[in-house]
Amino acid sequence: MSTPAVHVPVLLDRVTELLGPACAAEGAVLVDATLGLAGHSLALLDAHPGLRLVGLDRDPQARAEAAARIAAAGHTDRATLVPAVFDELPDVLDRLGLTEVQAVLFDLGVSSLQLDRPERGFSYAGDGPLDMRMDPDAPRSAADVVNTYPAAELARVLRVYGEERFASRIAAAIVRERAREPFTRTERLAHLVRESIPAATRRTGGHPAKRTFQALRIEVNDELGALQRALPAALDALAVGGRVAVITFHSLEDRIVKQTLAAGATDRTPPELPVRLPEYGPVLRLLTRGGEGPGDDELAANPRAASARVRAAERIRRAA
Ligand SMILES: C[S@@+](CC[C@H](N)C(=O)[O-])C[C@H]1O[C@@H](n2cnc3c(N)ncnc32)[C@H](O)[C@@H]1O
Repeated sequence: MSTPAVHVPVLLDRVTELLGPACAAEGAVLVDATLGLAGHSLALLDAHPGLRLVGLDRDPQARAEAAARIAAAGHTDRATLVPAVFDELPDVLDRLGLTEVQAVLFDLGVSSLQLDRPERGFSYAGDGPLDMRMDPDAPRSAADVVNTYPAAELARVLRVYGEERFASRIAAAIVRERAREPFTRTERLAHLVRESIPAATRRTGGHPAKRTFQALRIEVNDELGALQRALPAALDALAVGGRVAVITFHSLEDRIVKQTLAAGATDRTPPELPVRLPEYGPVLRLLTRGGEGPGDDELAANPRAASARVRAAERIRRAA
């Protein structure tokens, strides 16, 4: 039996403050691109009685739990939950007949529901199937990656997505061990990673398998590719005055968000022109100074928030 997921939305106050002004008008639409257990969405629905929610998640368990929470709060009639990967956002809005929306939230990565249930295979702490698919119907699991990728490709995934400095050693050990017997369980992989890194480094930087598991999860779910496609589409869908907020959990995600928002906030007048032309002006105004992290109180209450950073922006005009 699964235990009920304990859920603590990260940076909740700051996100509701950042998106609030865009959610206040009657009929405003919030797209929560990563609904999860609907923690942020519920806070915004509670605060803004005229707000409608379009909630996306590719995880059926998350959608079911979110639907139950939204119903318990009495907001079902204002919520539409959609099974989708968030880079399908333009199609989803099309199908719902929405040409623009007032707010978009991305709270990236895995939810406590996914992380805390060993049967989902995300956790290096407990034993479970080596799965890590957010959408259990997706074609490729972590076991497929671990058992079939060539050593060099595996090392690249661990180095780039996990920022793992022992990527080649770990990849070589995986390739050696999988020839004896394919990997099917998280515990065996976590143990092998621990054994593959120098003993002196095992004592620092948390669990030695943390970076490998993060890397595999990002690869299995194409997390960076989906973000790179979805964020520009979300900005396109924003009405003038509409706001986007993105919570990231590692530097690779944060870099994509930082660059995408900065590009929208930059004047594009060609340098050879003597004056700035309005049609080349910024389409976004940044609402955060850099990536904002949690305060001490939140950190004390929820250590998982430690690496969370939020960036937000407002659309100030339509692109020419
Ligand atoms: C960190 S949780 C969101 C938690 C949520 N803000 C809350 O307060 O309950 C991220 C959720 O987004 C979903 N998710 C991640 N990447 C996704 C993607 N590319 N498309 C759709 N859903 C995604 C995951 O399945 C997970 O349920």
